[in-house]
Amino acid sequence: MRSVSIIGTGYVGLVTGTCLAEIGHKVVCVDSNKEKIRKLQKGVIPIYEPQLEELVHKNKKKERLFFSTSIKRAVKESEIIFICVHTPEKDNGEPDLYYVELVAQKIAELMREYKVIVSKSTMPVRTGKKIKETIKNYCSNELEFDVVSNPEFLREGSAVRDFLFPQRIVIGLESKRAERIMRDLYRPIRAPVLITSIETAEIIKHSCNAFLATKISFINAIANLCEKVGADVEEVARAMGLDRRIGREFLKAGIGYGGSCLPKDIEAFVHIAKKSGYDFELLRVVQKINKQQRDMFISRIKEVLWNLRGKQIGVLGLSFKPNTDDMRNAPSVEIINRLLEEGAVIKVYDPVAISRAKDIFKDSVRYCRSAYEVAQDSESLLILTEWEEFRKLDLGRIRNLLKVKVIIDGRNLFDPQKMRKKGFRYICIGRGR
Ligand code: NAD
Ligand code: UGA
Repeated sequence: MRSVSIIGTGYVGLVTGTCLAEIGHKVVCVDSNKEKIRKLQKGVIPIYEPQLEELVHKNKKKERLFFSTSIKRAVKESEIIFICVHTPEKDNGEPDLYYVELVAQKIAELMREYKVIVSKSTMPVRTGKKIKETIKNYCSNELEFDVVSNPEFLREGSAVRDFLFPQRIVIGLESKRAERIMRDLYRPIRAPVLITSIETAEIIKHSCNAFLATKISFINAIANLCEKVGADVEEVARAMGLDRRIGREFLKAGIGYGGSCLPKDIEAFVHIAKKSGYDFELLRVVQKINKQQRDMFISRIKEVLWNLRGKQIGVLGLSFKPNTDDMRNAPSVEIINRLLEEGAVIKVYDPVAISRAKDIFKDSVRYCRSAYEVAQDSESLLILTEWEEFRKLDLGRIRNLLKVKVIIDGRNLFDPQKMRKKGFRYICIGRGR
C-alpha cells in the first residue's frame, strides 16, 4: 500500500484517486472547492460517471479513500502527490498553467521529506522542467524529490474502466527511485508500462489526442465527399476499420469533436509547436474541418426548415458524448445558441445532463422529461448525442407527436432507408442524399 494524494478532485482527479484506492492504496483527494469536498465527504458524487459512485462508497468504507480541502494534510500524509488540476485554454490558445504552478509552489512549501510529484493533468512539453524548478525555488530545505509525468488517457463515460484496464501506462521520469515507486503503484493493473523521459511522456499525451482528432476530422471530410457523390460514410468507415492498420475506433462521422479535452488540447499542441518553431499545419486543418462540420450542420437545418424564427425545434442529447453529464464545449451548446439567435423555440431532453444544461441555457430553452415530450408539436427533431436510449425510441410514437416529420441526425443513429419507410424526412451525415 502506497500513500497517495490527489490535488484537484475533478473528472480526472476523482477517478484517479478512487481507482488507486480500489487497487489498494491509501488516497487523500483534495480540492479547493469546499462545496465539492463537502459533498464527497457525505458520499455525494458531483459528476455522472458509470461505476464511480459505487467505488467511491466502497473505498470510503474501507478507509482507503478520504476527501479534504487541506493540501497541507495531503502533502504530509503522502509519498506520491498527483497534480490533477485543470489546464484551461487562454484567449490565445496557450494552456493556462497558473493552477499547476500554484499547486507546485504549495507542495514545495509544505514538503518535509522526499516526495514524488506526478503531473496527471495534460501539460505542454517542458512543464515537468518548470515544476521541478518551481519546487526547487519554493522549498526551503534541500530536500530530495522527483517530478514525474504520468499522462491520463481515460475517456469520460468509461473513465473507471479505462483507468483500471488501460491499454498502456506512460511514465516519464528521471530517477530509478521514482521508477521503483511508480511501478509499484501501478503493479495491480495489468498493462504495458512505458518508461520514458518526462518530455517524451508529455509529447505522447498531446500526440494521442491530436491523432484522435485527426481521425475524426478525416472521417468527417470523407462524409462530406460521400454526401456529394451519393456514397455512405458508415459503410466506408466499417470497411476502413477492418484494416487493422487503420482500426475501427474514432471513425464516426458527426457534428465534430467537442468536450473539455480534444478542442483544448489540439489548440494547445498547435501553439506549443509554433512556439517551438514548427508550424503544425495538419492540425490547423483538422481544427478547420471540425469547425466546418458544425457550420454545415447548422446550414443543413436552415436549408430544411427555411426560416427559423418562431419554429419549434426539439433537441435530443446535450452532453458532448453519451454516458456523461459533461457539457464543457459540447457541440449542442454552439448549435442551440446559434438556433436561438435566429429566433427558434427550443425544447431539449438529455438522460443526465439537464441540470448542467440549466446552468448554461438558463430559461432560454424548454427542458423536457422525455424524448416524447420534446417531439410533441415540434417542427423537427435534432439528434446531437448518441445516447443508447434514443436508439430504442418508439419511432411510430415520435412520428405521430411531431408536427413536421423531420429528423436531422448529427450522430447517424438510424438506417436512412428504414426511417424514410417509417414516414420521416431523415437527414443524417455523409449517407448520400
Ligand atoms: P476539472 O475542472 O474537472 O477538475 C479540476 C479540479 O481542480 C477542480 O475540481 C478544481 O476545483 C480543482 N482545483 C483547481 N485549482 C486547485 C488548487 N489550487 N488546489 C486544489 N484544487 C484545485 O478538470 P478535469 O476534466 O479533471 O481535467 C484535469 C486535467 O486532466 C486537464 O489537464 C485535462 O486536460 C486532463 N485530462 C482530462 C480528462 C477528462 O476526461 N476530463 C482525461 C485526461 C486528461
Ligand atoms: C478524449 C480521449 O479520447 C481520451 O483518451 C483522453 O484521455 C481525453 O480526451 C482527455 O485527454 O481528456 P473524451 O474527451 O472523454 O476523451 O471523449 P472522446 O471519446 O475522445 O470524444 C471526444 C469528442 O469526439 C466527442 O464530442 C465525440 O462525440 C467525438 N467523436 C469521437 C466523434 O465525433 N467521432 C468519433 O468517432 C469519436
